[in-house]
Amino acid sequence: QTRISRKTVKDIAAAKGGEPLVCLTAYDAPMAEIMDPHADLILVGDSLGMVVHGLPSTVGVTMEMMILHGQAVMRGSQQAFVVVDMPFGSYETSEDQAFLNAARIMKETGCQAVKIESGAYAATQIAHLVERGIPVMGHVGLRPQAINVDGGFRAKGRTGSERDIVLNEARAADRAGAFAIVIEGVARDLADEITAEVSCPTIGIGASASCDGQVLVTQDMLGLFDWAPKFVRRYGDLRTDIDAAIGKFAADVRSREFPGQAETYSLRKPDAKQP
Ligand code: KIV
Ligand code: NA
Repeated sequence: QTRISRKTVKDIAAAKGGEPLVCLTAYDAPMAEIMDPHADLILVGDSLGMVVHGLPSTVGVTMEMMILHGQAVMRGSQQAFVVVDMPFGSYETSEDQAFLNAARIMKETGCQAVKIESGAYAATQIAHLVERGIPVMGHVGLRPQAINVDGGFRAKGRTGSERDIVLNEARAADRAGAFAIVIEGVARDLADEITAEVSCPTIGIGASASCDGQVLVTQDMLGLFDWAPKFVRRYGDLRTDIDAAIGKFAADVRSREFPGQAETYSLRKPDAKQP
């Protein structure tokens, strides 16, 4: 029995300044299985609230949702480093709250780390978790869980005052011991500056090609939705493919073209070997 061991925080840290880390989101076992050979990191993002559950934002995502999808992704993957997002409301109150919920995610899913949308205030939570054995990925810039304060999804750090806020978020997460930091939706040169300054690898999404890795929401890059943010490159056209397949199935059912003989069972012939 061969057992492929998973990448560790050491492997992730070693990628700083080297070949870019490949990261994608997954929420279920088959998708995790398909991407596992290609990915360094798999993120069970709270984007699952929008991508899988049809919520208007990630604010409604629960611990139970993250754990259920985290378990599925762990079953489907073998070698990638798996990070599970801490959902809105599960870590902001206190270090204790953050630890109890992060520990629950680690224990119930078997994932390697958690991610926190880390406003500068969250540095205390990050340090608290890391000191107690839970690797934490930070997430700065556009923080989708803060959509109701921002008034929408909007790129950050394109003006002077915002640059300092984002830079401070990244510095705080780095100093607190985050093993990596996601930089989302920020001006290119700000992502460059953060990447050059922090000691841990940065993973960009709508950030810059100089980041130490890149992440996209898998269903966005596969073209499952009509709309995707500016920073998504479409590597597939899943929506068209699925629509065509389902349309063909519907037509075949209605015309009795499906099922054919090969897709049905005939009467079993008497078998001499069976009594
Ligand atoms: O929830 C998510 O998918 C994320 C990534 C886009 C970074 O946080
Ligand atoms: Na997220």
